[in-house]
Amino acid sequence: MQDQFLRRIEYLRISVTDRCNLRCKYCMPSEGIQWIPHDAILSFEEILRLMNISTQLGFRRFRITGGEPLVRKGILEFLQEAAQLPGVEDLMLTTNGLLLPEMAFDLKAAGVHRINVSLDTMDQTRFFENTRGGDVSKVIQGIFRSLEAGLNPVKVNVVVVRGFNTDELPSFLKLAQQYPLHVRFIELMPIGVSSEHRSDFVSIEEMKEILDLKETIPTREIPGGGPAEYFRPGGYKGSIGFISALSRHFCNTCNRVRLTSDGKLRPCLHSKHEIDFRDVLRSGKSDEEILKLFAAAVWHKPAEHHMNQESWQDVRTMSQIGG
Ligand code: GTP
Ligand code: 5AD
Ligand code: SF4
Repeated sequence: MQDQFLRRIEYLRISVTDRCNLRCKYCMPSEGIQWIPHDAILSFEEILRLMNISTQLGFRRFRITGGEPLVRKGILEFLQEAAQLPGVEDLMLTTNGLLLPEMAFDLKAAGVHRINVSLDTMDQTRFFENTRGGDVSKVIQGIFRSLEAGLNPVKVNVVVVRGFNTDELPSFLKLAQQYPLHVRFIELMPIGVSSEHRSDFVSIEEMKEILDLKETIPTREIPGGGPAEYFRPGGYKGSIGFISALSRHFCNTCNRVRLTSDGKLRPCLHSKHEIDFRDVLRSGKSDEEILKLFAAAVWHKPAEHHMNQESWQDVRTMSQIGG
């Protein structure tokens, strides 16, 4: 469907849990966050109902996010049902990768088309420290297991943070050179804890300078519904991409809305205004009534974000929004 600015909105990002088996420093405070209680989280039946309604409005791409989506009990059965819903053309997942070594083949069998894996550093000590306890070898193993399972294309998300991983950018470049992996460098967005780290921001322009990539021509051959711009230098098995959420935002071509695990529709990643669908789903309304409310919420998607303003702050952490 179209929104009030005539953008075609067809991509729903669904956070199925706010819980996570890591506590990345740019995502959560050291004490962690108060998890949303179970009964406040949408059931898989409720999510499937909303997905079904949204396909009637033309939504066709669905990305399942968290927290960490793979920690939710029953996720494989849910994915299997989601993949079979009429109108679902693309079923995708964004994960921290820790559970991929054992789950990659099951995800493929359930009908997931492709996955994106977060990996900000390949150094075990740094990874352990930044995620407060994670084992990077599991994530790397999970990435290769996903390739074997045929969850292609596998994309690797690298949030670039000054003084943390800027020196590793060339190693990530090598990863895309040697393997059919699509490595995306992402500008740090000031959401939740990250809003205290604006000075650690590295722009795409600076990343390209570090990588000496100024002259490379973008390619459109990498499947995806997201905002990344991709490059495939000669001889690369994979590609590299850039997500410039701040320095050159892509709001005018935005195609997505988000559903939080507690059933709030966020028309924009940075919306302060959320529309509650949990109570609507639990109020005995018909599918037609919910469809009208859903369409109205999408229609009112704002024109753009205002994250560049110093005063901008979100009430949720990234783990509660789903990235
Ligand atoms: P595909 O292109 O379909 O593979 O997915 P994607 O890049 O949209 O999804 P992913 O979950 O891997 O997100 C990658 C990065 O892009 C994360 O840092 C997201 O927060 C960011 N991102 C995704 N959608 C938006 C958006 O609408 N606005 C902004 N500012 N950032 C976004
Ligand atoms: N800025 C940019 N990207 C972020 N992510 C999490 N927090 C931030 C942030 N503050 C990324 C994760 C994951 C994706 C869903 O969002 O690394 O790959
Ligand atoms: Fe890290 Fe993602 Fe978990 Fe946040 S949700 S703590 S970014 S793995």
